[in-house]
Amino acid sequence: MILIDGKKISAEVKQEIAAEVEQIKKENGKIPHLAAIIVGADGASQTYVAAKVKACEQVGFKSSEIKFDENITEEELLNEIKKINQNDDIDGLIVQLPLPKHISEDKVIETITPEKDVDGFHPINVGKMVAGLPTYLPATPAGIVELLKRYKIETSGKNCVVIGRSNIVGTPMSVLMSRKAEYGDCTVTLCHSRTKNIEKITKEADIIIVALGWKEFLTGEMVKEGAVVIDVGIHRVKSDKTKSGWKLYGDVNFDEVAPKASYITPVPGGVGPMTIVSLMQNTLLSAKKAIYK
Ligand code: GUN
Repeated sequence: MILIDGKKISAEVKQEIAAEVEQIKKENGKIPHLAAIIVGADGASQTYVAAKVKACEQVGFKSSEIKFDENITEEELLNEIKKINQNDDIDGLIVQLPLPKHISEDKVIETITPEKDVDGFHPINVGKMVAGLPTYLPATPAGIVELLKRYKIETSGKNCVVIGRSNIVGTPMSVLMSRKAEYGDCTVTLCHSRTKNIEKITKEADIIIVALGWKEFLTGEMVKEGAVVIDVGIHRVKSDKTKSGWKLYGDVNFDEVAPKASYITPVPGGVGPMTIVSLMQNTLLSAKKAIYK
């Protein structure tokens, strides 16, 4: 069993990005700039945005964290987004999800100009991804493909089972794994809450990507020997055995599945760090105007 070290790979990719940023700065004085909007005081969202800001510093980007009270109206928020759309100094804009109930996430996503939508959530960018056109790929699926690449895990012709059909992970993941590409070309099955006999399907899988938000859902008896297992889940549970007082679990029962797997991502230190790196890659692309020009 090989443990896929997302922490190590993400550090490598960040170094590569930092080197490129240095180059761009020298050539034309441009510093890539990511803006992150956060609404309200959701603890997990604050942690994620803080991690994104820190990653910006590490690669030499400028970042702006823009905080709004949870009572901000939808109209006010959309107007703030429109202002950033017009701000030439800002290359990438993300609005951290989830948003308070009175604000439509769909409207927010559709208001971000596709050119700055480094999350790859805008329907235009989703459409481009499905059509195989150059665009910003959503961060978590792109980070997973990067891991498969860096570990040279063969995917062509393999049975890939994706569990979970969210717009952020499961659905785009199923698209990327089935597309005609070196780290794609899989036969993909997308499983979700209405899937029957899920263990029969997962047992046939060469590659299993679990993103359904159910602590330790994937158990040892659900996987075949030699499967590649990618765990997107993250669950924080109170613990008196750790220094922080919390223990993190994934959507995979690691102790049961790891001995059967050929490759597996741990939680933490697997997929998580790669998500942020993909966001940095997309922001760099935007700063270079490598996609839209
Ligand atoms: N909430 C959970 N994941 C994400 C993400 O990738 N981007 C944004 N903006 N919000 C999220």
